This record gives sequence, C-alpha cells and structure tokens, in this order.
Amino acid sequence: MALFDVSLDDLRRRTSIKWRRFEPDVLPMFVAEMDVKLAAPVAARLQRAIADGDTGYPELPVYQEAFASFAEWMWGWAPDPAADMCLAGDVMSGMRELLLATTEPGDAVVINPAIYPPFRLICDSTARPLLQVPMRDDGRLDLEGLEEAFSGARGPKPTAYLLCSPHNPHGTIHTRDELAAVARMAATHRVTVISDEIHAPLVGSAHVPFVTLPGAQRSFVVTSASKSWNLAGLKAGLLIAGSEVRETLRALPGHVHESVSHLGVMSHAVALNDARDWLQELTLEIQQNKVHFAAELARQVPALSYTPSEGTYLAWLDCSPLGLESPARRFHEVGRVRMGFGTDYDPSATQHVRVNLGTSRELITEGVRRMAVSL
Ligand SMILES: Cc1ncc(COP(=O)(O)O)c(C=O)c1O
Repeated sequence: MALFDVSLDDLRRRTSIKWRRFEPDVLPMFVAEMDVKLAAPVAARLQRAIADGDTGYPELPVYQEAFASFAEWMWGWAPDPAADMCLAGDVMSGMRELLLATTEPGDAVVINPAIYPPFRLICDSTARPLLQVPMRDDGRLDLEGLEEAFSGARGPKPTAYLLCSPHNPHGTIHTRDELAAVARMAATHRVTVISDEIHAPLVGSAHVPFVTLPGAQRSFVVTSASKSWNLAGLKAGLLIAGSEVRETLRALPGHVHESVSHLGVMSHAVALNDARDWLQELTLEIQQNKVHFAAELARQVPALSYTPSEGTYLAWLDCSPLGLESPARRFHEVGRVRMGFGTDYDPSATQHVRVNLGTSRELITEGVRRMAVSL
C-alpha cells in the first residue's frame, strides 16, 4: 500500500490547518502538510512517551545527534552536535532569531521571490528592508542579480541573504556550482547567508548543505524533520552554524532553544534515525505524484502544462493560459479545490497557484477534476 493511501474520511477527521481552514466540501491542496500516516517508528516513540508520561522538558541532545548522523549518511556532512548546532522552536522562529543576531534594524536583506511567505514577513516584522532578486523564469537562481544586489548596485548594500534550498514554491534544487557561486559572492561582499533547508531530506543526495561549501563558514543552516516526515504539529527546529560563527548560536537568547517541544525533539530524532526507509519510499511516491499531476493536467486541463520539479512535494503552476483574473480564487470558489495563491509568494504572481502534491494519486486526479469543472 502506498504511504499516501489515506482515505478522505480519515483525512477529514484531522483538525489541522489543511483540513479545517476552509469549507468542508473544499478539497485542500494548499498548506504544506502531507496526507500520510506517521512513520511507524515515530508513532511508536510518541506512544511510549505518552504511556510513560514522559511529557516534561527536553534535556538530551538526541535531535542534534540524529540530524548529524542523518546528514553524514545522506550528504557526507558531519556537523558537531554540541559545537555547531542548537535547537529552536521551529525553523521560521530560528531564522528570525538569527536575522536579529546577525543584522541591525534598517539593514537590507536579500530574498528570491516567489518565496515562502514568512521570509518576507520576518524581514518586515524586524524592520529589515527587502532587496528582491526574483527567481528566473526557468526557476533557477539569478546569480548575476544576486551579485549586483550583494555588491550594493541594486539599492542599499545588504548584510544578509535568506536562501531557500530547495526552493519553495518552485521546487528547485540548487546545484553545487550555483551554491558555490553564492558562497563566493557572499564572502566577498560580507553578506551572511541563512539557508533554509527544511525540504532537503526529501531531496536525497542531490542537495548540497550550504555550510559545507568553501567560503561558507560564516553562514547558517536552519532545518527540521517536520516537512519530510510531516511533523509540523510536533514543533522542533535546528540551527546549524558554519565553523566561524558558532559563537552566534551560543549568544542567542535562552528562549530560542527553550521554546522547542520535548515530543517534537523525540519524534524528529526518531524520524531521522529510524524512518529513513519510509522517507525513501515517500520520495519515490512524490516523484510519481508529480508525473501523475502532469498527466492529469494534460488530460483534464490541456491548456496548462507542468514539468515536474526536482525537489519538494509542491508544484508552482502557471495558469496564465486560462486568462482568469485570479485562477486560485476561481478554483476555490467554483471548483471547490483550494490551492496556494501565487500572490502570497510574490505579489506579482497573480497567475500562479502552488499545489500540494503530498497526497494520494486519487486526490490529485480529483483536484485536477475540480480545476477543470471550475472552467
Ligand atoms: C521553506 C520553508 N521553511 C519553513 C517552513 C516552516 O517551518 P516551521 O514550521 O518549522 O517554521 C516551511 C513550511 O512549509 C517551508 O516550506
């Protein structure tokens, strides 16, 4: 049985954002939660904790150790659990704290729209003006644009760059050469890179952890097992420092790591250690889901086409051939399928929708059917 074979009845019992934000007849394909059951080792670990009443504060560095072991196995990268890592409540709060620690109010920060919306929000809420270097039309990083931005030729000279690797929403896996170029220019122009690698475990060995690149020792990685093993309700994030900025982690205020949840730490650790087969099976199913989505679009909405991306379970779909004012709104209001609004990722992306393909093929077929009905 496929990991994504969870019945609609079972899914509708869930009380998370995906299943409760919109009307009950709407098929949700927006927020990045997956329609899977927990990997068995994770479920067993949580059941044991509940049976033992082990619901106090976390103490042991099991998450850091599990990530280091996973990273060595997957990427040949062996960060030191004690020296290079610290816990955070979740990835975005950790990224925000690192931004506060490494920049001053008024410092410009580079982002690549279309981008996961909280990147923009944490800059706004910390009074760091944005310097936007959009992703290219082919979904790749604009390296010339980044060089110009880092050097100050595109506006105020920035002090930080929030990289999304793999990229959400495009699903791009940045190549080693692209990332090496970013590392070189960041070192030259003294820009701190904070690389969000939350989607990386699902990518496999094609991913290159940013701080492993030459010249990237003053950068940070923020990550979590939450996207790849569907553990967002069990909050736990990790901050990982390059070798020259370890002291930045030590100097972060106590609330950063104290906000992590004990059930989060134990479940993320067991996922990284004991649910690697599950992850590899899921990665295969996601690739098949993308091919299936492309085929269903060709069959049911032939005006649109989708080329499967390499990373993430999200599809960034250009709906401009439909000639609608707001495709996402039409799909929701008429078709009763909710996808992410492109404008949340880039205010100018009125014609894009972000589609969550972390579900069964049956529901992907149904989602595309609803798109077609709305037209
Ligand atoms: C790129 C990216 N970063 C961060 C997050 C959220 O992570 P957390 O819930 O740990 O803050 C998401 C969630 O979808 C994401 O796609």
